[in-house]
Amino acid sequence: MKKRGLFISVEGGDGAGKSTQARLLAGWLRRGGMDVVHTREPGGTSIAEAVRRVLLRPGGRVSPMTELFLYEAARAQHVAEIIAPALKAGKTVLCERYTDATEAYQGWGRCLPLDQIRTLNRIATGGLQPDLTLLLEAPVADGLRRARSRGKGGDRLEREPDLFHRRVRVGYRAIAKREPRRVKIVSWATGVEKVHEKVLLVVERFLTGCGFKIRETARASFDRLRMSGFVEARTSVKRTGSPFDKLRVSGIRRGS
Ligand SMILES: Nc1ncnc2c1ncn2[C@@H]1O[C@H](COP(=O)(O)OP(=O)(O)OP(=O)(O)O)[C@@H](O)[C@H]1O
Ligand SMILES: [Mg+2]
Repeated sequence: MKKRGLFISVEGGDGAGKSTQARLLAGWLRRGGMDVVHTREPGGTSIAEAVRRVLLRPGGRVSPMTELFLYEAARAQHVAEIIAPALKAGKTVLCERYTDATEAYQGWGRCLPLDQIRTLNRIATGGLQPDLTLLLEAPVADGLRRARSRGKGGDRLEREPDLFHRRVRVGYRAIAKREPRRVKIVSWATGVEKVHEKVLLVVERFLTGCGFKIRETARASFDRLRMSGFVEARTSVKRTGSPFDKLRVSGIRRGS
């Protein structure tokens, strides 16, 4: 029987760099021969993307409990349609936000009971948990500034007061403290490449610990990429979705 694939989630506050780092990590894993499905919550399927639009539309009034159920509904569809089948097929799933986000935002941010949230998380996912969670930490104010500057003041959650986002951060830290084996904190550094380097080192340690054979170490890979021109890679993030695919990195081959 085929072995279940690896499940990695990327968490953190708004504007912490989740999408940027997930894209870069997906590129590294793919060059290492992994078949990677990069997805995000809320969303990832057409139903869940529709729920995302309802959830994040600025101005709409949504009660905390409704918000919680909408997130869980989107998650149930996402797990059933994307995550579980990909893992079953032996693929690596890289997901921006997952159950920890609900605990941090709806539990700590909205002050809904944590035990109810954990129960709903379990029901929506059928108990499927990530093998590794990268928790990206950015100073709350900086992250929010970056996130809000993208749209007209940010989406519905990004518009919540800073105090809400500080509670979310405390919540994320509590989860990391409770589950230190699964959740690894990646501390903030100014510069996408510096955080990318930290992410690679954490993932490399994790993969080695699981018995994966790494063909090129994170550091060697990173140095090579830097020499190949990280600036070029960074500027092409949005356009290609997988910037490093353009760069030739010898030493990592596809296949077993
Ligand atoms: N370490 C960093 N140093 C400086 N700028 C960064 C860093 N990481 C990300 N950025 C910039 O911050 C902005 C937000 O990054 P990104 O979209 O990856 O965050 P996110 O966590 O996915 O945000 P959201 O919560 O809104 O989905 C982008 O413009 C990105 O280029
Ligand atoms: Mg994002």
